[in-house]
Order: sequence, then C-alpha cells, then structure tokens
Amino acid sequence: MPIIDTALVQIKQLHPYTPGKPVEELERELGISNAIKLASNENPLGCSPLVEQAVARASGQIGLYPDANAYYLKQRLARKLGIEENQITIGNGSNDVLDLVARTFLDAGGEAIYSEYAFLVYALVTQACGATARVSKASTQNYAHDLDAMLALVNDKTRLIFIANPNNPTGTWLGADALNTFVRQVPDHIAVVIDEAYFEYVDRDEYPDAMGWLGEFPNLIVTRTFSKIYGLAGLRIGYAVSSAELCDLFNRVRQPFNGNSLALAAACAALEDEQFVQQSFQANQRGLLLMQDWFDDRDIDYIPSVGNFLTLRFGESSQQIYQAMLQRGVITRPVANYNMAEYLRISVGTESQIERLFEVLESVL
Ligand SMILES: Cc1ncc(COP(=O)(O)O)c(C=O)c1O
Repeated sequence: MPIIDTALVQIKQLHPYTPGKPVEELERELGISNAIKLASNENPLGCSPLVEQAVARASGQIGLYPDANAYYLKQRLARKLGIEENQITIGNGSNDVLDLVARTFLDAGGEAIYSEYAFLVYALVTQACGATARVSKASTQNYAHDLDAMLALVNDKTRLIFIANPNNPTGTWLGADALNTFVRQVPDHIAVVIDEAYFEYVDRDEYPDAMGWLGEFPNLIVTRTFSKIYGLAGLRIGYAVSSAELCDLFNRVRQPFNGNSLALAAACAALEDEQFVQQSFQANQRGLLLMQDWFDDRDIDYIPSVGNFLTLRFGESSQQIYQAMLQRGVITRPVANYNMAEYLRISVGTESQIERLFEVLESVL
C-alpha cells in the first residue's frame, strides 16, 4: 500500500489554510519594490520600540531553550488581566491554543460547533482531530454568528463550541447580554472558546470582556493574541485563559517550548507599552472610518467591522479586482475559501497605505 494511503483520512481531506501573499513574493514576481500588504490583519505600525529592544537583548540567548513555563510573561499577563498565572496557556500564536483546545476535547466521536463564515482555523483543527463539524447558519443580515442557530446544534456528542468575537473575516461582533446568555445555556460539560484575537480594537460599549466571566463558567476558554494590535504576528505568540484545571490539561498537550524566547521577551515588552497600543487603536479607528467613507461614497457594500479590516462586496468581479490590484502592488485577501467569493477582505493600513489603496482601486474599478 502506498505510504500516502496510510495517512489518516481526515488529514488527507484537509484543505490547507491559505495565508495572505507575502510582500517579498509579490515584489519578486513583479520586479517592484513598493508593494503593500493589506491581507493579513497585521498592525501597519509594526510593533513598539520597546519590543525591538527586548528582542535585540534576547537574541543573545537564542542558543538556549526558552523558559518552557513562560514565567515572566504569565506573571505580567496575570497582573494585567487580574487572573492567576495557572490559568494561562501560552501558544505559538493563538492558533496554537485553538489547536490545543481541540486536541484536548475532540476525537472521532465528538462534535464541534462553529458558525458559517467563522475563522477557518476552527474547521481545520476540528477536522484534524477527526471530529464532526456542526456548522450553524449565520445571521441572514450580515454574516454574523447566530447564537440561537448555534445552540440548536448542541446535542449529546457536542464537546466544543468556537465563537470569534469579533469574527474574522466578517468583522461582526456579539454584545455582552447575548453572549453571556448563550454561554449560560450551554451545558457546562461542553467547552466554549471565545476567540478575542481583535479584542483591543473593539470600541463598543456593549462589547464584553469574556475573561470576566471565567468565575461564572468553568467550561469557558478565552483566547487572545499578540499578533494583532501588539504587532507581533511574525513572532507567533498568543494565549488562552481558562480555569486552572483546564489550563493544566492544555499544558499536557502543549509542546514544551511552543513559546520561543524572542516571542516571550517581545510579548513582555509589548505589555509595557500602553501608549503604542493606544496609538495603534486610534490609527485603526481613523483608517477604518476613512475606508468606510470612501466605500460609502462609491456605493460599494461592506460588512460593518469592529476589527482592523473591512470585508467588501465587489460582486462577481472580485477575483479580477483582486488580481488587478495585485498587479499594481496592493495585496488584499480573497475570501472564497469562506464561501464568500464576491468579497475581498482588506486590512486597515497606515494613512499612506490607504491612500495608495484608494488610488489603485480607483484605477482598477
Ligand atoms: C479570529 C482569529 N482568531 C485567531 C487568529 C490567530 O492569530 P494568531 O495565531 O496569529 O494569534 C486570527 C488570525 O488572523 C483570527 O483572525
């Protein structure tokens, strides 16, 4: 029997995650040097100067294994978040903790629930575990999670529910009352992940800090990342916060050194620079408004977003528009893999990147 045939069926049937096209690759292909990437919801301001200094210092130690227990990072996070260190699971990006949670709860007999148009990694980790995905219909208005539809899929095989708040690629969000009521209705032997990768960008009074509910729900797991507002996407570091008991389980599954030493040092430094976070938040608010106004003026439909990206409806020509922008050095993100072939997701860039986007789009449209 060929070796390929012996691989697990669920792995053979996996559709790999499609990342945004790297700037270097496009520049190489086109022979240009000024491409911009608005495809992966990164922080266009980069990261805090404190991070750069911390990474430079830590680079003297890269011959040594990192601190497998992430002592300093957990200490700082615990202080900032008002939780205990033994509630924190560190991941190589928050994708890694999503995978740890899935591997802790899912096998071939189990089911995971997530919404249509929810972040794709939920589907990937569910399938990789050989579990069954129950995909709930999204809200008909705006592609958002429909919590009633999700609840209706709960059965005696349900082990895990994923909710992105806000969600990527839709930028939609759930309010405190609705989400808290939902979690309360989920039987407490079912794990509920609330993925808050874009938490720091959200500017809505009704937007909840689900970490505050951990005392109420022993089955709740909240994930966050340093990849977005903190600008550490390239270093790969994120975390989950849960009960200490769940955290203990995740740490059994976790690879011992999944948080590398540069990332740990960078994350500690990033937490020290509140000013950078504020500056990034404000720049994003301005950029998002600028983009929304521009698209409003041209009657181009988008899904209202509270994240650092906007998902726009370009209709049947969206793939051509994507390609034409690419040829002019602007990388955006098709979301056909989310079953949203008429849309493109565009991250909020710096003001000059946004101007370039507008110029290029004007010529393309
Ligand atoms: C909703 C959501 N969750 C989690 C992640 C994972 O990010 P990372 O693994 O870089 O922490 C992303 C990244 O785009 C995301 O959009």
